[in-house]
Amino acid sequence: MKEKILNKPDLKKAIQRDSSVSPIIYVEDNRSQKLLDFAKDKKYYIHTYGCQANVRDEESMRGMLESIGLTKTENREEADVILLNTCAVRENAEDKLYGEIGNLKGYMEKHKDAVLGICGCVPEEPEILERILKTFPYVNLVFGTHEVYRLLEFLEEVISSKKRLIAVESKSGEVYEGLPVIRTSKYKAFVNIIYGCNKFCTYCIVPYTRGKERSRKFSDILKECQELIDDGYQEITLLGQNVNAYGKDLDEGKDFADLLEAVAKLGIPRLRFTTSHPWDFTSKMIDVIAKYDNVMNFIHLPVQSGNDNVLKKMGRRYTSSDYLKLVKEMKEKIPGLGLSTDIIVGFPNESDEEFNDTLKLVDEVEYDSAFTFIYSPRKGTPAARMEDTISKETKGKRFKELVSHLEKSISASSERMVGQVYDVLVDGVSKNNEDMYSGYTESNKLVHFKGDESMVGKIIKVKITESHTYSLIGEVISDDPIIQKAKELKECLKNEPVLEEYLRIKAIFEVDESLKELRQKIAESKAKNEKDEYDRLKQMYDNHPLVINYYKAKEEAMELLKGLHDIIQ
Ligand code: SAH
Ligand code: SF4
Ligand code: F3S
Repeated sequence: MKEKILNKPDLKKAIQRDSSVSPIIYVEDNRSQKLLDFAKDKKYYIHTYGCQANVRDEESMRGMLESIGLTKTENREEADVILLNTCAVRENAEDKLYGEIGNLKGYMEKHKDAVLGICGCVPEEPEILERILKTFPYVNLVFGTHEVYRLLEFLEEVISSKKRLIAVESKSGEVYEGLPVIRTSKYKAFVNIIYGCNKFCTYCIVPYTRGKERSRKFSDILKECQELIDDGYQEITLLGQNVNAYGKDLDEGKDFADLLEAVAKLGIPRLRFTTSHPWDFTSKMIDVIAKYDNVMNFIHLPVQSGNDNVLKKMGRRYTSSDYLKLVKEMKEKIPGLGLSTDIIVGFPNESDEEFNDTLKLVDEVEYDSAFTFIYSPRKGTPAARMEDTISKETKGKRFKELVSHLEKSISASSERMVGQVYDVLVDGVSKNNEDMYSGYTESNKLVHFKGDESMVGKIIKVKITESHTYSLIGEVISDDPIIQKAKELKECLKNEPVLEEYLRIKAIFEVDESLKELRQKIAESKAKNEKDEYDRLKQMYDNHPLVINYYKAKEEAMELLKGLHDIIQ
């Protein structure tokens, strides 16, 4: 297959960081007739690996693909456009990808017009990109994390030219606004607040694949959050590789605490954020989390290791005692705090003593949940060049030991919840038991309970009856039926178009200058007893379009409320 290469990645460029404010690109609608014709009756399939940054990118890609008329399928064997949205953080994620591309060989050979695109973080690694291009000749589109917004342009190019297109530029990156989006959930949403990463932890590939830290404008984030609230969303998670660095690259004078507070004030029922680097966590941020009930009492605070020498080699820029001090402040200020973490086992040449420090820290902190990983060397990162004499077996043994330490505190924290009532945002039918529904508490514990479809997307009260290490069992506590009905009524009325229209017109009616003037003149003519003038002005007033609209809207709103009143009676 012929190739068109727009760009290829270059790690030397990928590590460059400058202090300039990143440009914002307001993406314009670029759907061509050719694409609209192509998409007719066609389907797309996307498989996303990796973190929430990729999940959010998938939502934008779905927005673009559906904007031209493609429909989604869960079956890649009937898709005309297949996208694998990849993760490069550890080797096993990459291995799964090779398997999946390999499985598509027969399908691509039979369907010569299909598009198979590889995107996300893997193509940003030069050696791996070459390997994919060589091993899988039927892959006909490759683009990186900086090119997501150009998906439709690439699709058109591949369809028209029938050439393989490669567009992976290593760069600091821009901030894109205005991409269409199809969200995976109708009640939980991710909102990007900062892209990229400047931390360069020595084991991590992310700063190379995602570019420099670049924050979205405060006002653009608030606008997106307000739209989600207007659409009835119950939970927003503010996203970034390190959300605590929010605003440092802008000249708006705002930091993450300011942003968190501003979003909390918009009134979303649940507000979360991820991920936080311990290094940038300020007391001001902890105070905001503690102050607002709708900022969830849950913090994901990756520690990576409990040993200062390993932390130093990892480039984490805090010591274990800095971390413990931070955790102490969080626990003191935030009641019922749920704390989770990421830990890497088997960093190059990690000794038994160094590993034991991690066990000690884990026992001291008593996490409520945790993600544990065996170190995986990533080409191009400093840690991949470090000597490592620790065997695979030792790493595997340590991994198991760590998990068993973590499980003790995780189980204990679950047990403490038995007998108490918690707010749970219901996700739907449980993944492991069809007879149950499930959702998460404010502190991010998974709860299973007997429920029904009407609860999905709502926050309900659940009393915990049983605890397991990684989940809880509970029973739904129903509200007083009258209160329940009143809540439902309030919810319906909030979005009732007749009332909304009435309030909108009323606001205009009350402040309109020409009407104010007329009212003044009518009052004057009445006071002076000028009957003809009074009648003339009164007629003008009554025939004013704003007055007519106002009384019409008022009448409709009254009728609606009267109807409701009669039903309740
Ligand atoms: N920006 C986030 C998430 C980064 S990736 C953060 O800093 O927390 C998620 C987790 O993957 C990291 O916290 C780390 O524990 C793990 N990880 C990253 N690179 C890794 C590697 N090379 N080997 C094993 N685990 C790794
Ligand atoms: Fe990777 Fe460290 Fe950045 Fe997290 S903070 S993305 S672990 S470099
Ligand atoms: Fe993976 Fe890229 Fe996220 S490497 S963890 S998908 S930033």
